[in-house]
Amino acid sequence: MRTLSFITKNPICRILLIIIIIQPLILIEIAVFRLSHTQIVPCIQVVHGKTEQININNKNEYLARVYQPLSSSILRGIIIFYPHDQEISFLPELLWLYRSWIEMMKTEPSLWRTDLVIYTGVFTLNLQQLGCIYNRIRTNKSESPQCRVFYYQRVHLRDIQNINNTDNQLYQQIDINRSILLKTRLKTYEYVDSINIVAECYPSFAMYDYIVRTDIDVFLTPYFGHFVPYNDILLVGRGGYATKFNTGRFRRIARDMNWLYGNITNIGSTWYGSPRVAQRIANFTLEAMLYLSINEFTQPERERKLGILLWPDWHYGVLLLYGSELAINHLILAENIKLGLANTLLDQFTTTNNPYDFEKNKPLHLHCWHTYKQFSKFLFKRGKYNDIHPRKFINDTSASGFAMRMALESRLMSSTDLKEQLMNAKNSSIL
Ligand SMILES: *[C@@H]1O[C@H](CO)[C@@H](O)[C@H](O)[C@H]1NC(C)=O
Ligand SMILES: *[C@@H]1O[C@H](CO)[C@@H](O)[C@H](O)[C@H]1NC(C)=O
Ligand SMILES: *[C@@H]1O[C@H](CO)[C@@H](O)[C@H](O)[C@H]1NC(C)=O
Ligand SMILES: *[C@@H]1O[C@H](CO)[C@@H](O)[C@H](O)[C@H]1NC(C)=O
Ligand SMILES: *[C@@H]1O[C@H](CO)[C@@H](O)[C@H](O)[C@H]1NC(C)=O
Ligand SMILES: *[C@@H]1O[C@H](CO)[C@@H](O)[C@H](O)[C@H]1NC(C)=O
Ligand SMILES: *[C@@H]1O[C@H](CO)[C@@H](O)[C@H](O)[C@H]1NC(C)=O
Repeated sequence: MRTLSFITKNPICRILLIIIIIQPLILIEIAVFRLSHTQIVPCIQVVHGKTEQININNKNEYLARVYQPLSSSILRGIIIFYPHDQEISFLPELLWLYRSWIEMMKTEPSLWRTDLVIYTGVFTLNLQQLGCIYNRIRTNKSESPQCRVFYYQRVHLRDIQNINNTDNQLYQQIDINRSILLKTRLKTYEYVDSINIVAECYPSFAMYDYIVRTDIDVFLTPYFGHFVPYNDILLVGRGGYATKFNTGRFRRIARDMNWLYGNITNIGSTWYGSPRVAQRIANFTLEAMLYLSINEFTQPERERKLGILLWPDWHYGVLLLYGSELAINHLILAENIKLGLANTLLDQFTTTNNPYDFEKNKPLHLHCWHTYKQFSKFLFKRGKYNDIHPRKFINDTSASGFAMRMALESRLMSSTDLKEQLMNAKNSSIL
């Protein structure tokens, strides 16, 4: 809240915010780097099948706890929705995410496996050339890391009369009644699929110990390589939509819905935790999105006729974040879901150029902000960095340098290069 009032008072930042909000699913991440946000829990020793108790003080209930069970075999899935019909726009993002995924494996313990799991309507040539495999779930812990593509039918393309007639539903459990509601009530909200994949495609990611639900315009860092959430905590990143007005409004809406509200706000779009908990939150998020869309927004707002007039107090474009705030606040109280606010770990800036900051804060995941500061996804996609050689960043220890290098390398590498690097990734593991 403090950082937010800073932005709204500063005219330059206000303009930035306006730019940011033009495309909705954004993270206006105002980082307050404090190490106390995170606790690195020492690895638990397994002695005669019993895990040793670790003394954790309960002072900060929502502390982001991570640890490094280096000698366990751990399975992780990075879960994304990929709109195949907008490949021109999303392929560059997918390529840099893919590049950072391979890079991360250099610091990943040899027994861990992290798959890139993509839900999309068509197994495009680009996905095939990257060596992705189609509709094949992971069946054991030793198989090398894979890019797995699963068929997913977008909500707005569903024929509600024959919704169960879609082919290829092997790993998708369509909830027919909910689909009808989502299709008719969230007609103008195009981001519903990125939550719905978590609600509906559980059979394809149930085998992972942890999943990361995230957008495509992100980078995994080398720290992601060797940190997982401690115990069954679900880590959430940090968003930037909260105001006094909407926090009060959420509290009131939760009451109207007969839901509990735990007073946690500014929850970012990335989740890192167990598949079951993520699916639970996704189900409640969809329910809350429907409720909000029907009861708390007017037709002109749903049709985006107000633009960003009411931002940051109330804005339809971030419905998904509003829905997940209600869901998470309810579930932490109603079902005791353990939450870690990963304010300095997930959804971090790609623009931080302090060379010491990366190492000090150990961010696991970077997310593109709507900015023209380096690294900017807009400038990258417009080719504005094409003259810069990634070699320039080889000694750059900042988050910005890391993002620049990953993105520029992914642009210069062919799909075959990327695919080959993936195949060799696990045997160059240093741990
Ligand atoms: C693991 O799964 C892969 C792919 O399904 C298969 O090729 C491999 O033989 C399996 N390994 C074991 C040990 O079951
Ligand atoms: C789809 O559902 C309808 C009614 O719910 C049913 O009559 C029909 O047989 C189903 N079709 C398939 C292919 O399962
Ligand atoms: C779906 O909706 C129909 C009609 O409203 C209802 O009869 C049915 O029980 C619902 N099914 C489920 C699984 O909730
Ligand atoms: C949330 O904040 C309100 C108002 O400050 C307070 O009454 C309520 O007890 C808080 N709820 C929790 C779960 O802390
Ligand atoms: C989420 O919703 C789906 C579809 O309604 C249901 O099958 C599943 O059990 C739900 N999952 C959880 C964890 O509540
Ligand atoms: C990176 O550091 C190495 C060793 O200090 C040095 O030899 C090299 O020239 C540096 N490269 C760049 C691009 O700065
Ligand atoms: C690394 O693994 C790949 C596939 O798993 C294999 O083809 C390759 O020969 C291995 N390389 C080394 C150096 O072990």
